[in-house]
Amino acid sequence: MAEAGQSKKRPLEKLDRAVIFIGPPGAGKGTQAKEITRLYGAPHLSTGDMFREHVEKGTPLGRQAKPIMENGGLVPDPIVMGMIGERISRPDCAHGFVLDGIPRTEAQAKWLGELLKQGGFGRPAVIHFVVDPGLLLKRLTGRRMCQVGGEIYNVYERPPKVPNRCDHDGGELVQRPDDREEVIGPRLQAYAEQTAPLVEYYRSQGVLADVDAAAEVADVTRRVTEILRKAR
Ligand code: AP5
Repeated sequence: MAEAGQSKKRPLEKLDRAVIFIGPPGAGKGTQAKEITRLYGAPHLSTGDMFREHVEKGTPLGRQAKPIMENGGLVPDPIVMGMIGERISRPDCAHGFVLDGIPRTEAQAKWLGELLKQGGFGRPAVIHFVVDPGLLLKRLTGRRMCQVGGEIYNVYERPPKVPNRCDHDGGELVQRPDDREEVIGPRLQAYAEQTAPLVEYYRSQGVLADVDAAAEVADVTRRVTEILRKAR
């Protein structure tokens, strides 16, 4: 059984582009984004994490997003665009970044394409996480996240060394409110209806590569780094 791991290797060459991770809830985007951004020393831009932080702090944005997230819906496009547009404009994104959780709608994809062009990032590399839907329920209901550093575990597949404690900082592991079974259905439906069509959108532009996301975490990471090397 694999355990949640942390790469200690020195950073690879700069990413020098926008990398987009696309795939259904529970496909492993967050897990891989953490691995890849550690390997490349690049920022991990997770819209889900950003919203969860706003919810936690009780900001106006968080108060707007909270009921939507808890019901498995999508936060309105203008809110998402404002939040991520500001984040991408920061200096640490100048040499590339990994987008995890955006775009999720056609409007977001078109807006992002324009933003990347104007920012001189060119065409993104898009990684499509392909996984049998039958695996997702177990992955989502078994997921636990560290309250301190956000490290991702799974009680079935990737347990911590000490139950309920993060291997890295000892933080308490908690379940996300949207990982309850009654919310998972609407989340998968939102993905199928609004996000899955983006796979063909990017495939037709010749920038998308499929990855078998049912493989071991380390194998998925290897495959993603291979794709990024070849896409240079
Ligand atoms: P977000 O946080 O982005 O959630 P998501 O897209 O539903 O994706 P998840 O985080 O659930 O799954 P993941 O693919 O990252 O899987 P993970 O690596 O954790 O969004 C949450 C909400 O915010 C949305 O529902 C929406 O309301 C809102 N939102 C966010 N962005 C938005 C946007 N752009 N527009 C509108 N609304 C937006 O892995 C899952 C589990 O599997 C873990 O337990 C992990 O340990 C395990 N695992 C991972 N890989 C493997 C493997 N290879 N083998 C075995 N186990 C594995």
